[in-house]
Amino acid sequence: MTQTPAQSLPHWASRTDSGKLTSRGKSPLQPGNRNALRNTETTKQSRMAESPLLVVALAAGKGVRMCSSLPKVLHPIGGRSMLAHVLAGAAGAKRIAVVVGPDMEPVRAEVALVAPASEIFEQAEQLGTAHAVLAARAALERHAGTVLVLFADSPLVEPATLRRMIGALDAGAHIAVLGFEPADPNGYGRLIVDDRGRVAAIREEKDASEAERRIGICNAGAMAFRVPRLADLLDRIGNANAKGEYYLTDAPALAAAEGLVAVPVICTAEEALGVNSRAQLAAAEAVFQRRARTRAMEEGATLIAPETVWFSYDTTLGRDVLIEPNVFFGPGVAIEDGAHIMANCHMVGARIRAGARVGPFARLRPGADIGPAVHIGNFVEVKNARLEAGAKANHLAYIGDGRVGAGANIGAGTIFCNYDGVDKHFTDVGAGAFVGSNASLVAPVKIGEGAYIGSGSVITRDVEADALALERSAQDVRPGWAARFRRRRLKPRRGP
Ligand code: UD1
Ligand code: MG
Repeated sequence: MTQTPAQSLPHWASRTDSGKLTSRGKSPLQPGNRNALRNTETTKQSRMAESPLLVVALAAGKGVRMCSSLPKVLHPIGGRSMLAHVLAGAAGAKRIAVVVGPDMEPVRAEVALVAPASEIFEQAEQLGTAHAVLAARAALERHAGTVLVLFADSPLVEPATLRRMIGALDAGAHIAVLGFEPADPNGYGRLIVDDRGRVAAIREEKDASEAERRIGICNAGAMAFRVPRLADLLDRIGNANAKGEYYLTDAPALAAAEGLVAVPVICTAEEALGVNSRAQLAAAEAVFQRRARTRAMEEGATLIAPETVWFSYDTTLGRDVLIEPNVFFGPGVAIEDGAHIMANCHMVGARIRAGARVGPFARLRPGADIGPAVHIGNFVEVKNARLEAGAKANHLAYIGDGRVGAGANIGAGTIFCNYDGVDKHFTDVGAGAFVGSNASLVAPVKIGEGAYIGSGSVITRDVEADALALERSAQDVRPGWAARFRRRRLKPRRGP
């Protein structure tokens, strides 16, 4: 399976769509796009078609409504931050500028990690979305071409939708505004679309008249620009509005006054979902998961109860993988063809190779490498350990920092004692070895190929191949002891 980092869905989710954004787009005239570009000039199309793309991602908002010490844009959806989703969606851009607030070291660190080529700009005070874009003034002024503004708290916009916005510019518009029709438009800016299908203005809810509030088409937030000097246009935006902020949403009306053309590009309400609260975070997670489950099944996995299976952005699945109910895939899980994941498993950073069977109730932690046809059973935890072909650990075991050779058997209750309170140590179990139930293997230790470990043994020294190692006291059997004990204790008591 190849990785397509420009996706905000698992890699297997999108075979046909590279997710790359270029400024070469198709027409925004798509089915269902009722307010699509109609009367704009298309003469500029060829000249504009190769325009390089600058993405400006706004992430400076404090996110007060999250009631969190974590900056809002770092809250995760499908196992990675909302910011990482948005930056992945912008991966095909020539340049990326991220606008952060002051004291947002963790946000800077996330940008450095997920999109290291990006430039970071600080917006000292949060004075509004236009003010935020202008914080990246140096990037705007250096750039001749298309500018796409994205909100880092809107992680669900599909790359194809962004391409439609760029396509609207290729078709001749100067501004493309992402619009949607929410079930409840409360709180959103409204798109005022004229009879030519152009965006004449955007009115924020707090500044809207009664009639304007009845408009159902709202601003999703993302906006694409191809205007000669965008910074100059944004500089002309004032803050005479209910919130006293510099609104990016004033740009279309200002542009229209100068004869420029702004058009709406419509996406689904699901894509437009912006996260301002924990409830909206959960709603966005639900959308992500629904998409991921659908794609998993489209790609050939069986999900017995899809609504109970949780994926991460990078989960990869082979063909004919069977997933039973209540399974959680954290980041970094790859499952190969024909593997069977039984109910109630939790896994992060694990590889499960072809034909392996895992669960029910198994926990796989980072570095678990479950080989072909391996069986991992109930209440088995594996961390940083490789189980080679056909090995078995069917019940109640901890396998940490080790290797289990091909065909070896790890009995119920076996513990790899990997930690001495300071350091972690390695346990090596050779191919074909048999580790009896309830053994403790105190690392570092090596069990040779084909060796037997007696049940209950605490193994602290290496065991050579084909040997038996036994470490337990000799059994003491006292015939008749129990019967005598009962007779003595159960004798009827005399006296009152
Ligand atoms: C914004 C839009 C509104 C739209 C809605 C969609 C404006 C003025 N309003 O409202 O029309 O319907 O999104 O969800 O654009 N940010 C900064 N610096 C700031 C202010 C905001 O970086 O000074 C960032 C935030 O981190 C966030 C984004 O800009 O990523 C949007 O800001 P937010 O305050 O959430 O705007 P809304 O009130 O939701
Ligand atoms: Mg918002």
